Amino acid sequence: MKRTIVKNASQLITCSGYKAKKGREMNELAIIEDGAVVIEEGIIKWVGKTSDIPTQYKRVAEEIDATDKTVLPGFVDSHTHFVFGGYREEEYSWRLKGNSYMEIMEKGGGIINTVKETRRESKDCLIRSGMDRLNSMLSFGVTTVEGKSGYGLDYLTEIKQLEVMKKLNIRHDIDVIPTFLGAHAVPKEYKGKEDKYIDFIIENVLPHVVDGELAEFCDVFCEENVFSIDQSHKVLSAAKKLGLKLKIHADEIVQIGGAGLAASLGAISADHLLMASNKGLDDMAKKNVIATLLPGTAFTLKEDFARARYMIDNNLAVALATDFNPGSCFTESIPLIIALATIYMNMSIEETITALTINGAAALDRAEIIGSIDVNKKGDIVIHEYPSYKFIPYHIGVSTVEKVIKNGQLVYDKYE
Ligand code: NIG
Ligand code: FE
Repeated sequence: MKRTIVKNASQLITCSGYKAKKGREMNELAIIEDGAVVIEEGIIKWVGKTSDIPTQYKRVAEEIDATDKTVLPGFVDSHTHFVFGGYREEEYSWRLKGNSYMEIMEKGGGIINTVKETRRESKDCLIRSGMDRLNSMLSFGVTTVEGKSGYGLDYLTEIKQLEVMKKLNIRHDIDVIPTFLGAHAVPKEYKGKEDKYIDFIIENVLPHVVDGELAEFCDVFCEENVFSIDQSHKVLSAAKKLGLKLKIHADEIVQIGGAGLAASLGAISADHLLMASNKGLDDMAKKNVIATLLPGTAFTLKEDFARARYMIDNNLAVALATDFNPGSCFTESIPLIIALATIYMNMSIEETITALTINGAAALDRAEIIGSIDVNKKGDIVIHEYPSYKFIPYHIGVSTVEKVIKNGQLVYDKYE
C-alpha cells in the first residue's frame, strides 16, 4: 500500500469544508500549526498536528518534511480555454494601442482567428501543446483544471477539442474537467443566421458530446453581439435536459442579464460578471450559483474589475480562475490572479485562497472530493516555500510553489 506523510508544516491551511464558502465564511482557512497529513492510495486518511500522528501510520511511509513551509490544497483553476491552435499576439499588440476586444472581433479577428487555426491543427499537436500548458499550470500549484471547447464551432473540431481533453486527463497528472462551449461565437458559415447556428449545436453536436461522455458542463458566451439571453437559454436548457451541468460567460462586457439567467437555470457558476446588476447577483446568491471571477481578463481588457466586495458582502460564494485563453487573457499565472484579486478587488488574502481552492472545486461541482485538506478527499496538496500563507500574495507575481503532490504522489519539485 502506498502511504505518504507530509509533516512539520509550519502552517497547514486546510480550507476545510465539503461545500462552497459564502460571504464571511470565505475568511475561514482552518489552519493547523505544525500540521501533518497522511495520504493512503491517493486519498487523505488523517489530518492533524505532527505530534499526534497515530503510530500505525508511521510504519512504512514516504515522509515529506515541510518544516518552515506552508501546505495548502492544490489550486483549482475552474475556467480556462487551454486547448487551441495558433496564437493572437498581433491582436494583443493592437489592444495595447487602444483597439478594444469587441472592435477586433467585429473586424473578423478574435475567437474566429483561433477557430481557423484550431480546425487546421492535428489532434497530436493539440495534445502536445496541451501537455506543455498543463506542465506550466502544475508549476503554479494547480491540480485540477477546467477546459472548454469553443474553438471549433463545427462538429469535427468541437469533438476533436473535447477528445484532446479526455486524452490529456489520462496522460497528465492534473485532472482536466471538460466543458462544451459550442456557443462561443458564430462561425463565418452562419454569419447573420445565429438562430440556425444554435439549432445546429443543439441538434447536431450536443447529443454526440453527451453520448460520448465528452463533457461534464455546457457553457455559452452570453453577450451583446454574440449570443442573446434567449439563444443562451435555448442551448443551456437543451444541455440541462441531456444531463450536463451549466456555466455561463455572463455580463462580461455589456449587462444583458446573464447573471439572472444563471440563477433561473440553476447553473453551477456564472463567470466574468464585470457588469452584472445587483439584482442578478442577488438572484445568484439565493440560488447558490458560484460567481467565478477572472481578474486577468478584466486587467488585460482594461475593464473595471468585477465587484468582488459587493458579492462577498452579499453572501455570494466567489471563485477565482485564470480564464487562460489565446485572446482575452493569455496567462496561466495564479500569482498574477492573486495579485489582482488582493490589490484591485480588495479581497482579503484568506478570501483569495478560498476562491482558488474549495470554491474553485465547488465551481466544478467537486467540493466533496477536492479543494480542501480533509479526510476522504483526494491527496492533492501543495507545499509553498515560506512559513506563512501571507507570503503568497507578498511575493508579488512570483510562484511560491515548491512541491506538488497529486493523488498522494510527488509530481512536481522546483528543486529537482
Ligand atoms: O472568457 N469571453 C469569451 N471567451 C473568452 C475569450 C476567448 C478568446 O478571445 O479567444 C473569455 O474571455
Ligand atoms: Fe472564458
